Amino acid sequence: MTAPEPFLFRHSTRQIVYAAGALVSIGELVQTRRLRRIALVVDGFFRDTEVRERVRNLAERNGAAFAVHAPPNQEPDTNTVEACREFLAEFEPDCVLAIGGGSTMDTAKVARIMLSNPGDVAESAGFDREFLPHPSLFVCMPTTAGTGSEVSEMAVVSLVGSDIKLRYRSQNMTAEVAVLDPELSLSAPPSVTAACGFDALTHAVEAFVSRLASPMTDPYTIDAVRRLARWLPVAYEEPENVDARGQCLLASTLAACAFNSTQLGLAHAIAAPLGALHHVAHGVANALALPAVTAFNESCLGEKGPVLAEALSSGAGETGDAASCIASLRERLSLDRGLDEMVGAEEEREAIAVAALKSGNIPTNPRKPTLDDVRAVVSAMREPLQGMPPAERLLRPAGG
Ligand SMILES: [Fe+2]
Repeated sequence: MTAPEPFLFRHSTRQIVYAAGALVSIGELVQTRRLRRIALVVDGFFRDTEVRERVRNLAERNGAAFAVHAPPNQEPDTNTVEACREFLAEFEPDCVLAIGGGSTMDTAKVARIMLSNPGDVAESAGFDREFLPHPSLFVCMPTTAGTGSEVSEMAVVSLVGSDIKLRYRSQNMTAEVAVLDPELSLSAPPSVTAACGFDALTHAVEAFVSRLASPMTDPYTIDAVRRLARWLPVAYEEPENVDARGQCLLASTLAACAFNSTQLGLAHAIAAPLGALHHVAHGVANALALPAVTAFNESCLGEKGPVLAEALSSGAGETGDAASCIASLRERLSLDRGLDEMVGAEEEREAIAVAALKSGNIPTNPRKPTLDDVRAVVSAMREPLQGMPPAERLLRPAGG
């Protein structure tokens, strides 16, 4: 075992609670922290469900006031954040509880921190900015296993009326408590489970092979890969399976605990313009990119290549290199699709390659790509693989 290279490991979330039925722990938090004003920011899907009433009861039974805000069911834009900020500013909570997918958690994250950092939402974006802390307790409960926003230091918000994605990053913006309750993810339909789960898998794989990966992050990421390879197809095929849901939820959190330090790689670099320019769902975009990206990276993975392949294959019951295992998993989740069905024109693919190369995730990709390399990867994504090894598709692009 070689001595570690210098590294930096970041972790901001102070408590992670995991249990089926962990929603009840909100009552304990209200009691032990003596919380008086609970603001629930909840995914619109859960707005009129039992979840909201349970939180209300847990708050009011412990003498706390309760108010609820449900942002629209879409990726947040600056107006969404502004509306949430107004709600929070008016209610003056001492606890902000976000329950939902990445969009809801990101909305609450940015809106809450803007309370202590007055200013324009768009102008406050940027990775190099550290926000002043807000005194309220911030709790996140994810309802999908995907973004890891419950522990990540980042948030993404669209600039309203444009294709521009604003990125925020601050340890002071991050949830202090993450509550993982697999029962909340039981209602996610299979297509959402598959896409969100593939986002989590892409986080785990890209963080494991990142140039900033370290002995602190490797245990998180390889464990996340193993759990997702084994349990994501089960959660997809058996939506009511609480154990499978829990494994995926835990894996998505583990991966995000790592990517706070490692950043991501070329798959996310390609997924970003696919989302911004063509509105391809983030998980679907990652599923399009990850097999070809992993095949491209293979020669630079060193000792990690076989470890990654073993983790993917032991979980999925597949054999072969890492890229082929990822491709098989993608097929089981009905995500073996081709880019051509979403992005047909050559100049649009060129724009994706050019935008991807400018991404902040490129420097941490294990193999440094040229523009021609990215073009080749994007070209290899054009058709479904249908059993073809991703490395072969990379060498023989669509139409070739
Ligand atoms: Fe992602």
